[in-house]
Amino acid sequence: MDHFDLRDGALHAEQVPLDAIADAVGTPVYVYSAATIRRHVHVFRDAVGSLVHDGQAPLVAFAVKANPNAAVLSVLAGLGCGADVVSGGELKRARAAGIPAERIIFSGVGKTAEEMALGLREGIGQFNLESEEEAITLSEVATALGVTARVAYRVNPDVDAGTHAKISTGSSENKFGIAFDTAPQAYARAAALPGLAVQGVAVHIGSQLTDLDPLRQAFARIGALIETLRADGHDIRTADLGGGLGVSYDPALPAPPSPAAYGAMVAAATAGWACRLIFEPGRLIVGNAGVLVTSVIRVKPGVHSPFVIVDAAMNDLMRPALYDAWHHIRAVRPSGERFEANVVGPVCETGDTFAMRRGMDKVKQQDRLAFMTAGAYAATMASTYNSRPLTPEVMVSGDRWEIVRARQPVEALIAADSVPAWIFEQPT
Ligand code: LLP
Repeated sequence: MDHFDLRDGALHAEQVPLDAIADAVGTPVYVYSAATIRRHVHVFRDAVGSLVHDGQAPLVAFAVKANPNAAVLSVLAGLGCGADVVSGGELKRARAAGIPAERIIFSGVGKTAEEMALGLREGIGQFNLESEEEAITLSEVATALGVTARVAYRVNPDVDAGTHAKISTGSSENKFGIAFDTAPQAYARAAALPGLAVQGVAVHIGSQLTDLDPLRQAFARIGALIETLRADGHDIRTADLGGGLGVSYDPALPAPPSPAAYGAMVAAATAGWACRLIFEPGRLIVGNAGVLVTSVIRVKPGVHSPFVIVDAAMNDLMRPALYDAWHHIRAVRPSGERFEANVVGPVCETGDTFAMRRGMDKVKQQDRLAFMTAGAYAATMASTYNSRPLTPEVMVSGDRWEIVRARQPVEALIAADSVPAWIFEQPT
């Protein structure tokens, strides 16, 4: 559920008309709803909060990659969330937003020694190791700093997540995690390394999952592994179940499983584990909490249906170009008329297409459209391709709103480059 609704014929973010924001800030502009973010955290907590193990409630560690805006992270910090980070940059952002270090989980296959040192100096809660090679490096870095790193291995359960290949991570052919069958040996070797304290297991099989079965299978394998590891003498205290639960992009399709259904599945799968559970939801928390508002530059005739050329492009919202992702497109002030159109951006690539032959609200030049479900993996994946500056972001709460990232001036892009003096020398 979100807080983007039609009121008096105009699409609002909570109590603020999107038109008012677009008039003041220009377009394209991302708009987030704080109430929606809060609601999603509460719904998720309600779904998993009762799964107390070892006297500890689960840790909800927001996957920062989904939306790292400081205002978004601050809302989550205020709700007591932790963070799942995958780079030194995300770690610094999470800390800057006030997320306590002990609630930070560091994931990712390519952590550098410098990033490990940063995490260790901050005192983060857990490193999710993705290879034995990484364990050796972390051991060296921790030993040099004279500290102990709390670690889990991310185990690849070799299940098919049934999602888009580019966001599927739990098959044995993916780059993620250590192979399930070799896990006991990997744990034994990690436990023998100085500077490491083995405390948990981690799993994450993919994103935008619309079926609970692959997760259920993965968790069953993890449960069996926990028993093996304990029998081997490891003190397994945490089980990080990753993120991945899908959200609704197309209101015409059946909704993905609810957080409550997910929570019930997790309760059954983890009964008797006696581990503190960690969750890393990203999309579920912020996906439906954001929209991208864009203006129609012009409408151009096409062979089958007209091209609605908007001022947002693939550099602002990359998901359709990258994953053929489907985003619901609504008029900010619908006239009531509908038509079939192709919605495209101005970038010089055919891939800069948001929708083909889409039945949608009829719009004309200067009208505004909103791409829905653009709170996750949207602004954060933007680039400046075609020298298009990064899009501003706005946070709404009730009847208040504020710019939380200013529009990048194109001059900043130009000024970021430098030209060596010798470029101007005559070629010899
Ligand atoms: N934990 C780990 C280790 C992850 O790799 C991810 C996402 C998450 C948690 C959060 O997953 P979520 O709950 O958001 O599904 N750019 C793609 C999605 C990439 C997801 C990468 N990993 C998209 O736009 O669909």
